[in-house]
Amino acid sequence: MACQLLEGKKGIIFGALDNKSIAWKIAERAYEQGASFTLSNTPVALRFGEIERWSEKCHAEIIPADATSVSDLENVFSRTMEIFGGKIDFVLHSIGMSMNVRKGRDYDDLDYDYFLKTIDVSAVSFHKMLQVAKKMDAINDWGSILALSYIAAQRTLVGYNDMADAKSLLESIARSFGYIYGREKNVRINTISQSPTKTTAGSAIKGMDGLVDFTDRMSPLGNATADECADFSVVLFSDLSRKVTMQNIYHDGGFSSMAMSLKAMTQYNKSLDDEV
Ligand SMILES: NC(=O)c1ccc[n+]([C@@H]2O[C@H](COP(=O)([O-])OP(=O)(O)OC[C@H]3O[C@@H](n4cnc5c(N)ncnc54)[C@H](O)[C@@H]3O)[C@@H](O)[C@H]2O)c1
Repeated sequence: MACQLLEGKKGIIFGALDNKSIAWKIAERAYEQGASFTLSNTPVALRFGEIERWSEKCHAEIIPADATSVSDLENVFSRTMEIFGGKIDFVLHSIGMSMNVRKGRDYDDLDYDYFLKTIDVSAVSFHKMLQVAKKMDAINDWGSILALSYIAAQRTLVGYNDMADAKSLLESIARSFGYIYGREKNVRINTISQSPTKTTAGSAIKGMDGLVDFTDRMSPLGNATADECADFSVVLFSDLSRKVTMQNIYHDGGFSSMAMSLKAMTQYNKSLDDEV
């Protein structure tokens, strides 16, 4: 793409782990579109991920942080502002983790310490990020802050477990904080509800392969890929979407509006025929 939608824009990208990560794809596309940014992830992820190699290519400094720690987040924002000599224009929250999912604990047998951790890492960290940014007055007027969500916030999908609750809270935080940040500072906050995507976090979900196939068949446009999510994120970071705020935007090939598709009906009828 020849245009430079993010020319001169500066930001922070949280959650790029490896080249499958949605945040990684967004970082690649933002860089192509002229943005400068810092990258942040946990010290463990930085040790095991591949982020260092990529950060050199896009001239991005890596700032380690556990997104549940307010002091770590303060450090990410202050170091980023130091690097860029002032306020920034965009922030990506691309963070999710559930120990209940990892350990195979079902939703009717949750470990509550894990549950609180899921909520803290996957949703409250977004509030912490926004509160730190606002208190430090880190975001320029018309800046754009994005987090990644999933349709399990609205509809029940087998296997998504306590992450569904975390995503509901994440989307609610985008609305509640979006009102205040918009009113006081013209900063917009949105969530993108992305199709299931095979990444490290995505692959932890029980039955991921079947889910990806099902949503692909059900969506008139097919599943949205991580690269397509990156394209859309760039538009939401750009000045082309200045009046979009407090929204959860489905980026899912139409899946969220479907109940039954021709392909799914054909498959369903076939399985009934097989039963006879
Ligand atoms: N993959 C999917 O199917 C899918 C669909 C919709 C939404 N999402 C969301 O997209 C986002 C990115 O996930 P992904 O699929 O790219 O997987 P990923 O595993 O590449 O990214 C998840 C990231 O969260 C980071 N993280 C975990 N705990 C953290 C903490 N305490 N502090 C800071 N960072 C922490 C991990 O290190 C990792 O980089 C998540 O919010 C996820 O829920 C994913």
